[in-house]
Amino acid sequence: MKPKVLLTRGLFPEATGLFDTDFDLEIGNTQRMLTKPELLEKAKGKDAVITMMADTVDDTLFRAAPSIRIIANYAVGYNNVDVPATFKRNVPVIHTPDVLTDATADAAFALLISVARRIPEAHTYVVEGRFKAWKPDLLLGQEFAGKTIGIIGMGRIGQAFAKRCAGFGLNIIYFSRTRLAKEKERMLGATYAPLEELLKLADFISLHVPLTDQTHHLMDKNRLDLLKPTAILINTARGPVIDEGALIEKLRKGEIWGAGLDVYENEPDVPLSLRQLKNVVLLPHVASATKEARLRMAKVLYDGLTAFFSGKVPENLVPEWKRHVELQK
Ligand code: GLV
Ligand code: GLV
Repeated sequence: MKPKVLLTRGLFPEATGLFDTDFDLEIGNTQRMLTKPELLEKAKGKDAVITMMADTVDDTLFRAAPSIRIIANYAVGYNNVDVPATFKRNVPVIHTPDVLTDATADAAFALLISVARRIPEAHTYVVEGRFKAWKPDLLLGQEFAGKTIGIIGMGRIGQAFAKRCAGFGLNIIYFSRTRLAKEKERMLGATYAPLEELLKLADFISLHVPLTDQTHHLMDKNRLDLLKPTAILINTARGPVIDEGALIEKLRKGEIWGAGLDVYENEPDVPLSLRQLKNVVLLPHVASATKEARLRMAKVLYDGLTAFFSGKVPENLVPEWKRHVELQK
């Protein structure tokens, strides 16, 4: 018998199709996210659930569907999953690291350059027919060469972002929970700095940390107040890493140059007060949205599920589960 798998939300034909042959697949909904009651109902009797980052995976899910043996999260970030609850039920969790690293780093850099050079504003200016004459002071931006980028979170995505920054002549400083090995720092041309120091020194800042209890409101009002008035803040990580209300205040008062955001505190709600600002570039959580990355994300979940159901250890367990499995060897 094929394992019964719930895919909470249809992906796109090529990606969804990967799961069709080897699994008894049910698609939760092709048009929207499932509500919590729908998720609990549809998960009943399933061996595996492929979740999206807006699906909450906690003990209520395992109580409703004790048949679940593995969770496959279609994202690298898994703050939607209560990991201790999965340990209690012995339900491993896989996710999609590595395959979206370049796509996400590209998007973070696209946001940085868009804010610094005011690309959306300039585009709108032309589209609205306002380009009547060349002007020496039209839409002046900031250039990169010789400036300093501060990268917060130096995992895979932070490092991929650093490589892009090096190509544009930026000096790189970083803060991370664990400091990189000397050799790695040398390779990336990146210098470690304590968080507060980084915030004061950097001309531009990009966030690449996972959302945890420790990183919730990492960028609170006090830390935002350390930024230079010309600073640009980029967030492709998770919305709650920034105190969004405090950031909006600073942007509104012109106390920083601007922000480029792909993620928000209460997604998909984006406050009107943020949307009305001129000094922001806002994306609808699309940093990993390349055809290549989104297809590879499906492929690594398929590979992980196939390994699991044939009695092997999936390669893409989340770090907590990876450590747990190592310790049991
Ligand atoms: C997207 O935000 C992800 O975590 O993959
Ligand atoms: C995700 O790929 C990370 O930055 O660790």
